[in-house]
Amino acid sequence: MTTPLVVSLPNYIEPAQRLANSLGYDYQVIGVHRFPDGECRISVPPHPPAHIIICQSLDHPNEKLVELLLAIKALRPAGVRRVSLVAPYLCYMRQDKAFSPGEAVSQVIIGGFLAELVDDLITVDAHLHRIDMLQHVVPLKNAINLSAAPVLGEFLLQQDLHPLLLGPDSESQQWVQQVADLGDFDWALAEKQRNSDVNVRITLPDLSFHNRVVVLVDDVISSGNTVAQAARELGQAGAGKICCLVTHALFADGALELLHQAGIRDIWSSDIIAHQSNVIPLADMLAEQMQTLLMD
Ligand code: R5P
Repeated sequence: MTTPLVVSLPNYIEPAQRLANSLGYDYQVIGVHRFPDGECRISVPPHPPAHIIICQSLDHPNEKLVELLLAIKALRPAGVRRVSLVAPYLCYMRQDKAFSPGEAVSQVIIGGFLAELVDDLITVDAHLHRIDMLQHVVPLKNAINLSAAPVLGEFLLQQDLHPLLLGPDSESQQWVQQVADLGDFDWALAEKQRNSDVNVRITLPDLSFHNRVVVLVDDVISSGNTVAQAARELGQAGAGKICCLVTHALFADGALELLHQAGIRDIWSSDIIAHQSNVIPLADMLAEQMQTLLMD
């Protein structure tokens, strides 16, 4: 088989190039022309190799999903036999049940859609709360959910802070505990009650936070309200310094300011969604997993 080619949409050139460099493969961008009515024209490499690796985070996903659909449907007739999607942020994973009658369960719908489109899927810290395995929602043999926690933990160790880690809700335990194990850090979980997209109530565990360096650890910062509210509570509880460590820096408009206003001093994120808080590169971890798949 010829050497795979790494491609991405135009909004993900740098991270995809980092993955291509780490793998030692060439990179090309998928052309996207946007028409005035919002539709797009997609151009893929006209003579692709048999194996294409698409590296594309799926934050702000609606346009990207259509663009990937068109790109992959154009690649297959051009001779592509294997499409590996490296989507470090996998969209629509948080709605994992119908909370009211009639609600679409986006996790299984989008997971099924992607499984029909690609042959392998690698992602990072997908939001799997009520299920154990990514394959249950993305029915592919190679549906792989990596954890960024070891890399986040290594980063935190280098900061030499001796922090107490706090997960803002029960769902964050899987990430907080892994990061804590790596550095032998103290850790605890708060309780979260979500009243709306932007209104959350956080109840701290019964611990002393006085003068402690507390690092909030979560998979996603979106509106910022979860960690901001946790930080406000920590401030009232006398925490010394409050920082935040996150895999997916979605950061909706105003989220960064909200975190600063809530008293969060340092904000550290992985580089899989471009944001000014990115300090933790994950390309090598993704490349290592891709190489393992290629050896199968
Ligand atoms: C929720 O379960 C996630 O782990 C995050 O805590 C949540 O998505 C963060 O959202 P926001 O920043 O909008 O509060």
